[in-house]
Amino acid sequence: MTCSGHIPNVVLMTFLYWGVRLTWAASSLPFITLTVQEPGQDHPHYFLIRQGVYGLNSPLLEVRGQVLAPQPLRGTLNLQGCDPETHFQVPPDLKQWIALLQRGNCTFKEKISRAAFHHAIAAVIYNSKPEMINMVHEGTGKIVAVMIPESEGNHILSYLEKNASVQMTISNKTSY
Ligand SMILES: *[C@@H]1O[C@H](CO)[C@@H](O)[C@H](O)[C@H]1NC(C)=O
Ligand SMILES: *[C@@H]1O[C@H](CO)[C@@H](O)[C@H](O)[C@H]1NC(C)=O
Ligand SMILES: *[C@@H]1O[C@H](CO)[C@@H](O)[C@H](O)[C@H]1NC(C)=O
Repeated sequence: MTCSGHIPNVVLMTFLYWGVRLTWAASSLPFITLTVQEPGQDHPHYFLIRQGVYGLNSPLLEVRGQVLAPQPLRGTLNLQGCDPETHFQVPPDLKQWIALLQRGNCTFKEKISRAAFHHAIAAVIYNSKPEMINMVHEGTGKIVAVMIPESEGNHILSYLEKNASVQMTISNKTSY
């Protein structure tokens, strides 16, 4: 009986982590922080998304704004933002906001362009699969585009469903 095939999990995780970090250029990995204020709660709370990736055609800028998902359309959820009638309920006094969109049904370019058309400062697209991919979206201009994992997208959405106010900062500062 041999144990040579058993690599401790922590070693494997470290390799996986650095493998992922090195696969992407360091500058294309934004650091994403969120501040959530739920209605009826005294204090906001904070969390961090470590696995975001800027889209290949995105400016690598630091931006900050309130996160909004598309409004339901014709009585059904419209999380993907593909329909030309997609709209966002942007509060009139809001200066900067960030569109949260689910991957699927139409191209990244269409989703990002739709967010830009509605004057979002950034489009954050959450994946429909656990792994991250490089988004290609030529011609979307100066809007910042970022992909985040599915679980993180659903996490943010759960706060939006509770009418919480969610502020996001997408930072281009390298973290290490
Ligand atoms: C990071 O973002 C800031 C503000 O948007 C910008 O001035 C700066 O040039 C960016 N840094 C890099 C390395 O792109
Ligand atoms: C899929 O995308 C098309 C436009 O590309 C849109 O008209 C349609 O409503 C979308 N369907 C869903 C279920 O989002
Ligand atoms: C969120 O706000 C909308 C409109 O103001 C309201 O219809 C809905 O019931 C609220 N949802 C929750 C969970 O408070």
